[in-house]
Amino acid sequence: MDDLKAKYLGLIAAASDEAALEDLRVQAIGKKGEISLMMRELGRMSPEERQMAGPALNALKDEITSALAAKKAALADAALDERLRGEWLDVTLPARNRRQGTIHPISQVTEEVTAIFAEMGFSVAEGPRIDSDWYNFDALNIPGHHPARAEMDTFYMARAAGDDRAPNVLRTHTSPVQIRAMEKMGAPLRVICPGGVYRADYDQTHTPMFHQVEGLALDRDISMANLKWVLEEFVKAYFEVDHVDLRFRASHFPFTEPSAEVDIRCSWEGGTLKVGEGDDWLEILGSGMVHPKVIAAGGIDPEVYQGFAFGMGIDRIAMLKYGIPDLRAFFDSDLRWLRHYGFAALDMPNLHGGLSR
Ligand code: PHE
Repeated sequence: MDDLKAKYLGLIAAASDEAALEDLRVQAIGKKGEISLMMRELGRMSPEERQMAGPALNALKDEITSALAAKKAALADAALDERLRGEWLDVTLPARNRRQGTIHPISQVTEEVTAIFAEMGFSVAEGPRIDSDWYNFDALNIPGHHPARAEMDTFYMARAAGDDRAPNVLRTHTSPVQIRAMEKMGAPLRVICPGGVYRADYDQTHTPMFHQVEGLALDRDISMANLKWVLEEFVKAYFEVDHVDLRFRASHFPFTEPSAEVDIRCSWEGGTLKVGEGDDWLEILGSGMVHPKVIAAGGIDPEVYQGFAFGMGIDRIAMLKYGIPDLRAFFDSDLRWLRHYGFAALDMPNLHGGLSR
């Protein structure tokens, strides 16, 4: 028995993991374990022998059981120590003060625009970037044969073979959200709809994916004068100046009547873009009084309600405000560009605290 005790206590002490311990338990005190088998022999002993061997075997079994438990606890402690050593972290180290990520100018400008229009009572509406040609065109008074469809350089989605419904499109403007907002909220209505739009076009001021913000205000007595005031207020607040030169040019959109395009005075001298000076004009938005057919397509009675709408290029006004000369860089994901033109994550734009400071 002393040999057995020495053998098992030695093996237990040397065991390196829980599986090895379990093997030892089975070997020693499992059903067919060495010590269990000896206990079974007790029955064949004389009463005197049994009185000696019984308690000794029981004591041995207890000793091995507690040695197993103690070793198991020791192994678990060692594992925890090891883990704590590996996961150690000095929370007293100074935080990294070098800003790594930045807010992209498009996100920043979207927040700025939203803050300004929120102040004027506009809420934010959204729609899908892949839309039906009904929302993108027909509902906006652009029927199938209309030249505006070709002018927009539309990206069409593919349909499955044999599916001859009109293909969906990557929306070419945010105007389809006008229809969705009217359907969902009815009139009176004041919304802006920011988001990505797509056209097959590529040069210094055009990329195949860019961003617009749509504005729509419907009520019982809205006129072109309201549109002009809202846009002037917006432009002054956005550029954080008391005066900017805007040019309203008579124009044509199928979904507005009358229509106006709005340009902003700027200069490109020396390759840098400056707002408010120079002899160049950069178009920033299209606008007009919503066509009655469009109001009707949105499920609202055009005899009762009328209003204005505009669609503005977010990327354009970001370039103008922050002096970014090439639109294509917006989408290059060049970390150096992002560090230069990006914004700190915790500066939420608002009119009272300053939009971009
Ligand atoms: N959807 C037009 C465009 O993308 C802009 C626009 C919106 C014009 C609303 C008038 C009214 O060019």
